[in-house]
This record gives sequence, C-alpha cells and structure tokens, in this order.
Amino acid sequence: MSIKKYLASIEDLSNQKIVLVGGTSGIGLSFLKFLVKKNAYVILLARNIKKAEAIVEDLNYKNIDIIEYDQSSYSSIKKGIDALLEKYPSVDSIVLNAGVISRIKDLMEGHPYSIGVNYYGVRYFIEYIAPKLTSRTKIIVQGSLVAGFHLNKKTDINSNNFKTFKEYNISKMCVEAYTYKLMKENPYPNIDFVLTEPGITSTSITRDLDSFLKHVGKVFVSTFFHSVNKASLTLLEAVTSRASHGSYIVPRGLFTISGYPKYKKFPKKRIREFLIK
Ligand SMILES: NC(=O)c1ccc[n+]([C@@H]2O[C@H](COP(=O)([O-])OP(=O)(O)OC[C@H]3O[C@@H](n4cnc5c(N)ncnc54)[C@H](OP(=O)(O)O)[C@@H]3O)[C@@H](O)[C@H]2O)c1
Repeated sequence: MSIKKYLASIEDLSNQKIVLVGGTSGIGLSFLKFLVKKNAYVILLARNIKKAEAIVEDLNYKNIDIIEYDQSSYSSIKKGIDALLEKYPSVDSIVLNAGVISRIKDLMEGHPYSIGVNYYGVRYFIEYIAPKLTSRTKIIVQGSLVAGFHLNKKTDINSNNFKTFKEYNISKMCVEAYTYKLMKENPYPNIDFVLTEPGITSTSITRDLDSFLKHVGKVFVSTFFHSVNKASLTLLEAVTSRASHGSYIVPRGLFTISGYPKYKKFPKKRIREFLIK
C-alpha cells in the first residue's frame, strides 16, 4: 500500500464540516492537508491565530475558518465553543488532536499542566459541547500508545510531582479511559465517539524537552518510526463513514507503532475506570 492508494480509498468529504483542534503543527497539520485534498470544510480551533492564518494562506483554500481557542484554560474552551456554535450550529466531526508534553510546573485549572491540557481540557470540551449538539456528530479523540504503559492504581494524578514523560503518559491513559467510558456508556446518543492513535512520529511535541533528548529523540524517531503523513491517517480514517461509534483506530504495524490504519478492540488493561472521577 502507498499513501496515494490509501487516499484513493477515502471518500470525497466535500459535504463534511470538520472541526479540528490542534491542526497547526505535526500530525494535525498533515491531517489538515489531507482534509483539504478531500475537499472538506474545516474549522480550525487554534491558540495561535497568526500561525493559523499563515497556514491557511499557504494552503490557498477557501473552505476553511479559524476560531481562537486555548485548551489550557476552561474559559477559553468555553469561549471557543460558544463562538463555534454561534457560527456553525451543526458540524459533522470534531477532532480533538491538541496535545503537549510540557515541563510547565504551573497548574492548569488545578491539575498538572500536561494532564490538564491533554485530559481535563478534552473532558471539559466534551462535557460543555455535547449537550448543545442537536444533530448527529462524531467526536474523535487522539490517544497514544503510551496509554498502555503500567500505572499504579494508587497514583494521585493531581499530585504535580511527575517527571515530564510520566505526566504525559498519565494524561493519555486518562483521555483513553475517558473516551472508552463514553463509547461504552453512550451518554449522548446523537454523538459517535471514536478513539485514534497515531503510532510514533517526529514532530515538535518534543519542543519542551532539553535539547540533548530532543535531538537524539528526533533522529531516532525519524529513522525507526513512520512519517507524520502516515501518522495522521488514523485521524483521516476516523472521519470517514467506515468509522462509527466505538471505533478504536491504530496503526497496523508491530506494537501499533507505525503503519496504515486498522480497527482494533480496546485493550482491557486500558479501561482503568479508577482514573475517571
Ligand atoms: N508525535 C507522536 O509520536 C505522537 C504519538 C502519540 C500521540 N500523539 C498525539 O498526537 C497529537 C498531536 O501531536 P503532535 O506530535 O502532532 O504534536 P505537535 O506537532 O506539537 O502539535 C500539537 C498541536 O496541538 C496544539 N496545541 C497544543 N497546546 C494547545 C492548547 N493549549 N490549545 C490549543 N491547541 C494546542 C498545537 O498548537 P501550536 O501549533 O500553537 O503549538 C499543535 O497544533 C497529540 O495529542 C499527541 O499527544 C503524538
């Protein structure tokens, strides 16, 4: 299979309005370019408006809009959603791809920063928007294979004394467990929840790490893992009509690190209901 062949298997999306959070860099930016190729109407929710505008100008594509949104603040999430729904009362899909691996030690709304942005931000978004959505909508959450790592049940996720990666891993364990709960319990019958993972690819998500780790990591990841374009295909698969409520989509390669999308059963050990309080 080639990316070209995979893209040919994807339907035209010109009748789709797709909201994309985290489309200004890395995996989200690649995904955005594929959405443009497939003629979708895209609403970008972005924290850096100038950066988003420069991307849109570069794309030279008219069916795209930008709304200011910062997932590190509940008031900004609320403001972004209010602005979105005022202009677009119904959309087809919402892709929650924004994520950080951050060394910031300030709390985000009372939570360790990365756990705040990657989990509590996503959860706040869903709980605020879901009751307001009246038409059928798909919400796609970006997870990570690190959600499969070990976690001691007694870990206090709000203790704010984690090493940078451990905090990131916990944020992804939480967001996957939360999305699975929504898929299983289906509290919003008009919303289809889909969970994706991109595998591993080199992006600027490592920007906050110290420069040795960042450099070695970048070389290692770009040599042994897959391209950012391939890593964005699970998101593309998720917006197609092939993905439905409860779909869990990961790369098909060994340990789901790389490869074209495949549908999988959510692993039992990741259910971790104790994380969702
Ligand atoms: N790279 C990997 O190997 C890998 C593996 C597993 C999972 N993931 C997940 O894939 C997603 C994308 O990661 P990436 O590797 O593409 O990273 P990236 O290049 O750093 O992109 C992250 C995106 O999230 C946005 N973002 C970050 N904080 C935000 C905030 N507070 N409010 C709004 N937007 C915010 C960024 O906006 P700016 O452009 O303004 O910075 C950017 O668009 C993340 O959820 C990550 O956890 C990545």
